[in-house]
Amino acid sequence: MILGIETSCDETSVALLESDGRVRVNLIASQIARHQPFGGVVPEIASREHLQHLFPLVSRALSDGAAQWSDVDSIAVTAGPGLIGALLVGVAGAQGLSYGLGIPIVPVNHLEGHIFSPFLQNEGPAAKLPARFLSLIISGGHSSIYDVRRGSATMLNRTRDDAIGETFDKVAKFIGLSYPGGPEIEKQSRRGRIDRARFPFPVPQFNDRSPDFSYSGIKAGAIRLARQHGIGVDGDPQSLADFAATFQEALIAQLIDRLSVIWSQLLTAGEAMPEEVAVAGGVAANSALRERITEWGAAHDVRVRLPEKRYCTDNAAMIAFAGLQKPESRTDPKRVSARSRIA
Ligand code: KG4
Ligand code: ZN
Repeated sequence: MILGIETSCDETSVALLESDGRVRVNLIASQIARHQPFGGVVPEIASREHLQHLFPLVSRALSDGAAQWSDVDSIAVTAGPGLIGALLVGVAGAQGLSYGLGIPIVPVNHLEGHIFSPFLQNEGPAAKLPARFLSLIISGGHSSIYDVRRGSATMLNRTRDDAIGETFDKVAKFIGLSYPGGPEIEKQSRRGRIDRARFPFPVPQFNDRSPDFSYSGIKAGAIRLARQHGIGVDGDPQSLADFAATFQEALIAQLIDRLSVIWSQLLTAGEAMPEEVAVAGGVAANSALRERITEWGAAHDVRVRLPEKRYCTDNAAMIAFAGLQKPESRTDPKRVSARSRIA
């Protein structure tokens, strides 16, 4: 089995996976409640919480997974990108275990974790990875589409400013919803109607026709419209719900637009097309987005693979699974270090 450790942001997570990607245990100690009063993640609090929860979670993972240390033959740990103090807790913890047990470490890029997460199943072994797939990573820190061939990812676009999850969070905070804002906007929008006349959000286009994302314009526009229409938790509940539904729809519309642009560019290239489009990251938990992108897949005759909701937000099962994809990266604990940014 492989032990996975994730501490890059505000969830401490430990998982045990079998070599076929079957998840024995995936434990998550969420710190959301600790950061909520501040409306965002406070790095110092995150590090302290990881320190408190990591080893108790490791012990529980072994007992819940009915496993012994002798069953574990490697440790996958998130080495970056993320909050440096938070990453250090996981990496130093993994190094200690690795020295103590005499087993190697596999340092994992957090984004690789998200890329492979849609293939984890609720039950049984992981799904087979296609030789080529597109990966759409949409989270609090990232919005990018990757071309993944034989496990190796090439970035096709990125956001030029804010990430999509960050946009959900900032606008939600402005109108008085709690952190993290994505699920709160989703909850509100279920009672709302899309009203583009009242809340006009364009899909931004670049002069150079680049498929990059840009969310700062929608963020600024949302804040302006919210002010103009008095949108907030203390205002008219129906207006709040309609605003949330229209704002959410605008964020999704841009994703679908850029995915379509990239898809037609790939078609023009004339090579064998990606076999699947896999969506990952916290925002992939959004039900409206899941529906829209599934429809997009049906219209473009390609399978859309969505992660189980438990594997959308940060978790150690996806880190362990990414570790399984690269046995050649198993290394000595001395050679592993935490990095807040990874080029
Ligand atoms: O992947 P993740 O847990 O952490 C990062 O690596 O960033 O993603 C967290 C982000 C937050 O911005 C949160 O608001 C967003 O995912 N999110 C959602 C939903 N659930 C989480 N956004 C929209 N709808 C949701 N249901
Ligand atoms: Zn993440």
